[in-house]
Amino acid sequence: MNKAVRKAVIAGNWKMNKTRPEAKELIEAIKPLVKDAGCEVICCVPFTNLETALEATKGSNVKVGAENCHFEKSGAFTGEISAEMLTEMGVEYVVLGHSERRQYFGETDETVNKRVRAALAAGLKPIVCVGEMLKDRENGITAELVAMQTKIALKDVTAEEMKNVIIAYEPVWAIGTGKTATAEQANEVCALIRSTLASLYGAEVAEATTIQYGGSMNAKNAEELLAQPDVDGGLIGGASLKAPDFATIVAAATNG
Ligand code: 13P
Repeated sequence: MNKAVRKAVIAGNWKMNKTRPEAKELIEAIKPLVKDAGCEVICCVPFTNLETALEATKGSNVKVGAENCHFEKSGAFTGEISAEMLTEMGVEYVVLGHSERRQYFGETDETVNKRVRAALAAGLKPIVCVGEMLKDRENGITAELVAMQTKIALKDVTAEEMKNVIIAYEPVWAIGTGKTATAEQANEVCALIRSTLASLYGAEVAEATTIQYGGSMNAKNAEELLAQPDVDGGLIGGASLKAPDFATIVAAATNG
């Protein structure tokens, strides 16, 4: 990555894991291991763990994120959480448009865009997920699809707001499968996302935006992935639930 203009960001996405006591235990285990990190460290946790995580991370360098938020400010949306509800708690980040939300909960590029705009308006920093399915890669449309997802997710997002946006490239076929994209594949698509950002906002914004890779990143493969020039960090699922593994990835980002 280009350390002169952007900082590496390692974010854990806990998904639907951990009760409150388990969350506290995991954060307490992570904190001392990452206290000297030379990258940003974020734990994105289930809604029910946010308060616990915020309390446990107080005074540390570990930031807290949610895993989703709704695009409306308030109203009759049973089961949903607004962006403002998160900022009021002190939550700083939110994962949006994760492929599991798209796959199982009917999220579309348009609703992802609405969520991104609502999150930014409320002062949250979105981690916007894009990525192709295996059939897209096999059909040779990865570049077109990821560029399209990126453009729609960022519709009406200003260059100024882009300072608070992180993009995560997560090829769906690599998530939870143990099949990581090769470092070259990850870099190729992250570079493509950066050129899409350049076409939307110009080179300066594109160069300053953090673009993460996610999908079976672990303690063993992180170093190679994070050494790629356009891979500025990681969005980590399974390995973020094990403090030593997560810390090893943080160390790889710090040194890389
Ligand atoms: P895994 O690291 O478990 O493959 O999950 C990646 C992911 O979906 C992070 O958002």
